[in-house]
Parts: sequence; structure tokens; C-alpha cells
Amino acid sequence: MLRVACPGSFDPPTNGHLDIVTRVAAIADEVVVVVSVNPAKRGLLAVEERVELLTGITAHLPNVRVEQFQGLLVDFCRAQGVRAVVKGLRAAGDFDYELRMAQMNQHLTGVETMFLATDPRYAFLSSSLVKEVATYGGDVDGLVPPSVLARLTTRLAEARERPAG
Ligand code: PNS
Repeated sequence: MLRVACPGSFDPPTNGHLDIVTRVAAIADEVVVVVSVNPAKRGLLAVEERVELLTGITAHLPNVRVEQFQGLLVDFCRAQGVRAVVKGLRAAGDFDYELRMAQMNQHLTGVETMFLATDPRYAFLSSSLVKEVATYGGDVDGLVPPSVLARLTTRLAEARERPAG
């Protein structure tokens, strides 16, 4: 029985995230998508919204569930019987940071990390770039699932009406 975790901030979830989760769901018995809660960082989307959106876009994958978690990822993995963390690797730029996290997590509890090569269609895609492009009115259609695009549009319109002071 192989249960794995796909952790991230998912602010917002992108088609790149969905691609990785879909591909790993075809290999593992169970996939837990873990929305990491970072109290020091105010996201564009509330954590609950990210969970809701991820639950919706993975609803067709019966062996995928979505959870939120605050704390060390390895503690979540231990508590949930997760044997491996799965991450997408876009390019060399991701590698240094991901390697150090993987080695730290392995050092802490022995949880393994497995990397999937990102589909080249999504090699340039990140949540932060999606947010930036969308904030300035750029077109992110095709980069995020339709439900995410709709929510982003709503949140950004609200932010424009009520600028942070
Ligand atoms: O989508 P992101 O922001 O690249 O995801 C990073 C994430 C959430 C996977 C990473 O920051 C994480 O695992 N955070 C949980 C806290 C933790 O375990 N930190 C030590 C990592 S070695």
C-alpha cells in the first residue's frame, strides 16, 4: 500500500499541480494533497478556498484527498502513514531547494521524496507568476483550471475595489 503526499502552498492551484497529482494518482494507491498553512504569509486565496478548489478539480480521481496542515510536513506524513512526498521538478532552478528539503525530510524521519519531471507544457508555470500576471490583467486562461480562474477573477476584483491600506 503506497500512500504519498503532494504538498504545496497552492495559492492558487495550477494546471501544473493538477498534472502532477493526476500522474502520481496513476502510480500510488493513495494521494494526499497537502495544503501547507503558513501563518506568516497572507495568501491571495484563503487556505479553505485552496482546499475547496483542489477538492473540486481532483474529484474525478477516487484515490486523491485534500487536507490542510500547519507544521512540519514530516509530522503530517508520520501521522498519516505517508511513505513518500512527491514533487514536480520544472527546471534546474527548482532542484537546489527541492534537494535540500528532500534531504532534510529524509534526515528528520526517513520519509522519501520522489520527483516527477514537469510536463514541458507547464515548465514556466508557477502560482506566483499566475498571481502576478492575473493581478495586472494578463490572461491566465489555460494555465489554471476554470474553477480556479473564476475564483481568481473574483478575488482580484475584490482586491481592486478594496485596496489594502
Ligand atoms: O508550493 P510551495 O510553497 O513551493 O511548497 C513548499 C512546501 C509547503 C512544500 C514546504 O514549504 C513545506 O514542506 N512546508 C511545511 C513546513 C516544513 O516541513 N518545513 C521544512 C521543510 S524541509
